[in-house]
Amino acid sequence: MIVILLGPPGAGKGTQAKRLAEKYRLVQLSTGDMLRAEGKSGSALGRKVQAIMDAGRLVSDDIIIDLIADRIDRAAGQGFILDGFPRTVPQAEALDRLLSAKGLKLDHVIEMTVDEAALIDRIAGRFSCAKCGAGYHDHHHRPKVEGVCDVCDAHDFVRRADDNPAAVKTRLDAYRRQTAPILPYYRKQAILRQVDGMADIDSVTRQIEAILNRQ
Ligand code: AP5
Repeated sequence: MIVILLGPPGAGKGTQAKRLAEKYRLVQLSTGDMLRAEGKSGSALGRKVQAIMDAGRLVSDDIIIDLIADRIDRAAGQGFILDGFPRTVPQAEALDRLLSAKGLKLDHVIEMTVDEAALIDRIAGRFSCAKCGAGYHDHHHRPKVEGVCDVCDAHDFVRRADDNPAAVKTRLDAYRRQTAPILPYYRKQAILRQVDGMADIDSVTRQIEAILNRQ
């Protein structure tokens, strides 16, 4: 099964992709995670993309398409869930070409609809464990023991450099201008479905599962 999760920053794509990857044994392909790993590696490409991400702008299509093509190759034979890709019409078209060259097809594109005001709160409060990456939130999901990761007992937490108000505004603008135009692209192919991303996390998971279980 090949699934795309679409939605603005903070819609819950990463949260849901992790759950679905586990339940349906899919590989989670998050271009944001790939780019952050590249940034951490300190490579020339990493330094270039980190500056773009920190400002909240989109990395160029050619870099992203090369990155995802390589990961799709490595996922050979397994289903996957795309979180954060595609984000432009040229990326959506490139994905179609990559899949058709491998005799694969996209099964579901799921748009998570959300209210922008709630996104700012979700993003501003987000932090994660520096060791295992488990996600938390200042108001909705704090570690059970203050300062200790529930999953791996580590004591260090990090916040993303692009989770500041100026970068979030740029990211939301980029979604409206560059990513939203791919919705009609998938509507035309009759594979676009919507879920209410404002519902609680478990309920969003159930809505998505109902779509995936339909076939
Ligand atoms: P990326 O890492 O993809 O970030 P994003 O799209 O901005 O999305 P986020 O990770 O912020 O949010 P999310 O929807 O995954 O929400 P999450 O589950 O974390 O991209 C980062 C950057 O990389 C881009 O700006 C760009 O520069 C570059 N990039 C990446 N892909 C690219 C591409 N294809 N082309 C070009 N550039 C690219 O949830 C957020 C918070 O809300 C969490 O705290 C969570 O616990 C909470 N939450 C989740 N769901 C709910 C709920 N239902 N109710 C209450 N709280 C919830």
